[in-house]
Amino acid sequence: MRMRVLVIGANGLTGRLLVRKLKDGPHQPVAMIRDPDQQATFDAMGVPVAVGDLEAPLDPVLEGMEAVIFAAGSGSKTGPEKTLAVDRDGAIRSIAAVEAAGIQRYIMLSAMRADPRSEGHPISHYLRAKGIADEHLRRSDLAYTIVRPGRLTNEPGTGKVALASQLEPGGSVPRDDVAAVMAAGLDHPATHRVSFDLLGGETPILDAFSGIASD
Ligand SMILES: NC(=O)c1ccc[n+]([C@@H]2O[C@H](COP(=O)([O-])OP(=O)(O)OC[C@H]3O[C@@H](n4cnc5c(N)ncnc54)[C@H](OP(=O)(O)O)[C@@H]3O)[C@@H](O)[C@H]2O)c1
Repeated sequence: MRMRVLVIGANGLTGRLLVRKLKDGPHQPVAMIRDPDQQATFDAMGVPVAVGDLEAPLDPVLEGMEAVIFAAGSGSKTGPEKTLAVDRDGAIRSIAAVEAAGIQRYIMLSAMRADPRSEGHPISHYLRAKGIADEHLRRSDLAYTIVRPGRLTNEPGTGKVALASQLEPGGSVPRDDVAAVMAAGLDHPATHRVSFDLLGGETPILDAFSGIASD
């Protein structure tokens, strides 16, 4: 079934790659942007936009959507208060709005080591924010997928990954492969109600899905 898919964080590095891949596939992406000046990028791809902000109500942008992919992030250049406002509270707000809108499918771009109880790591505040949002999603009734990549790079994608409930911490993965995993996972039933770590690896993406266990 062709789905209208809202990409939150569409103007980000991973978000843009994801929108392009979705556009080349069977579904209809809609790019959620914060600033109307970002629209030209998506006009050039032939992708519609919806203007919205994770720090504001999301109901208007969810109208007509059948799936949502969260690829947003406060980034490393903002302070800890934005980590809470965007990565934790914005993500939770989006999950609640998706549930209220009766949308079933939700893919969360989280992070390796995301953990509501993270302590003693240089970015524990971020890992806790992501972990709390992930826990919230697991407690929902949504058909969710939680993708937890290691460090993201801008290297070209390889189409091959390492993907498992838990991988050895450390390591990296190209944003292009993260986007490919989310695009391929969108209507792949093996990815419903599952969480997995993701790194660059040797296994073709569709083969990697076959080995994952549900939460
Ligand atoms: N960097 C890493 O190594 C790493 C590792 C694991 C996981 N991750 C996670 O992977 C995801 C993508 O990372 P990335 O580096 O590709 O992203 P990015 O380039 O930093 O882009 C983040 C996007 O989020 C948007 N955004 C920020 N605040 C927002 C808000 N209040 N409402 C709506 N959108 C908002 C930004 O919008 P504007 O374009 O308007 O600024 C931007 O388009 C993030 O969730 C990040 O936490 C990152």
